[in-house]
Amino acid sequence: MTRKDLLGLRGMPRTEIENILSTAASMREVGRRKIKKVPTLRGRLVVTLFFENSTRTRTSFELAAKRLSADTLSFSVSTSSTTKGESLMDTARNIHAMSPDAIIMRHACAGAPHLLGRSFPFSVINAGDGINEHPSQALLDMLTMQDHWGSLEGRTVAIVGDVQHSRVARSNIYGLTTMGARVLVAGPGTMCRRELAGLPVERRHTIDDVVAEADAVMMLRIQRERLGKALLPSAREYAAFYGLDLARLQRARPEVLVMHPGPINRGVEIGADVADGERSVILDQVTNGIAVRMALLFLLLGGREGGEDAG
Ligand code: CP
Repeated sequence: MTRKDLLGLRGMPRTEIENILSTAASMREVGRRKIKKVPTLRGRLVVTLFFENSTRTRTSFELAAKRLSADTLSFSVSTSSTTKGESLMDTARNIHAMSPDAIIMRHACAGAPHLLGRSFPFSVINAGDGINEHPSQALLDMLTMQDHWGSLEGRTVAIVGDVQHSRVARSNIYGLTTMGARVLVAGPGTMCRRELAGLPVERRHTIDDVVAEADAVMMLRIQRERLGKALLPSAREYAAFYGLDLARLQRARPEVLVMHPGPINRGVEIGADVADGERSVILDQVTNGIAVRMALLFLLLGGREGGEDAG
C-alpha cells in the first residue's frame, strides 16, 4: 500500500480494498497459532487516541498491533491534559515528540484525522470521525460477508436505521458499491433523508421492503442521546417500525446474514433472539476486526522504513 494514512473508503480503488481483504484473510492464521504473534512490526510504536468511547475498535486495534509485535500506547483522553483545555494539535505535537509510527484516532469532528494526517509524518488511521467515516468497520463488515459469499459482486446489502448520521453506513456504502454490491437503505425520514440520493444507494420506506430483498441486513445502532428529540420520538415506536425481530426476519431469505457494528440496543433496533440467533454474524464481525486491523497496520507500516517481513 503506498498511502500514508487510512482516512476513509470514499474513492478507494477496488484493487486496494481487495488487497486489504486478502491480507486480512491471511492474517487470521496468526490468531490460530499457539503463540499469536509475528515480529513484523517489532520496534514500531502504535498509539490509540480516542476522543470518544469505544469497546471494539480500540481493543482490536491494540490487539492487532500486539500480534504484529508493535509497542502500543493507549492515550486516554478522559485522564489526559485535553481535559485542561489542551488543543488537538498540541496533543498531537506532544505525541509526535514520542516518535509514533501510527496513530489510531477517533474524534467527534468529521475531518479531525485528516488534519493530523496532513500535519504529521506518522500514519493516521481513522477509527471514526463524527458522522463521516469508520473505514476499518466497513472493511471488517465486508470481510465477514465475503467469508460467506466468496465475492460481494452482485449481492444486496440492506442498511437500516440512522443512515444519515452513521459513519459506519457511509463507509459501508462507499466500500460495498465499489466492490459491486447493491445497497438498500431504510429508516425514519429524519434519519434517512432524500439527500441520501447523493450516495449510491436505493432508498426504501420500510424495513420490510429491504429485508425481503437482502443477502445481508445491517442494523445500525440507535443513538439513545437522540431519543425524545425531534429525530426519534421513542425507542418503543422505533422498535415497532424499524426494529428487526423474529417475525420480520422470517420474511427474509433463509440464508440472510444479520449484522450489527455494536454496541447493540437489544429490543430497540434488534431483538435479542435475532442478535443471538443462527443468522447473526455479529461476533464474527468482531473477530474479523482483529485481522482487518492487523492488515491495515501491516500494509501501512510494514513496507515503510524499519519494518520487518511478516513471519
Ligand atoms: N463498532 C464500533 O465502532 O464499536 P466501538 O464503538 O465499541 O468501537
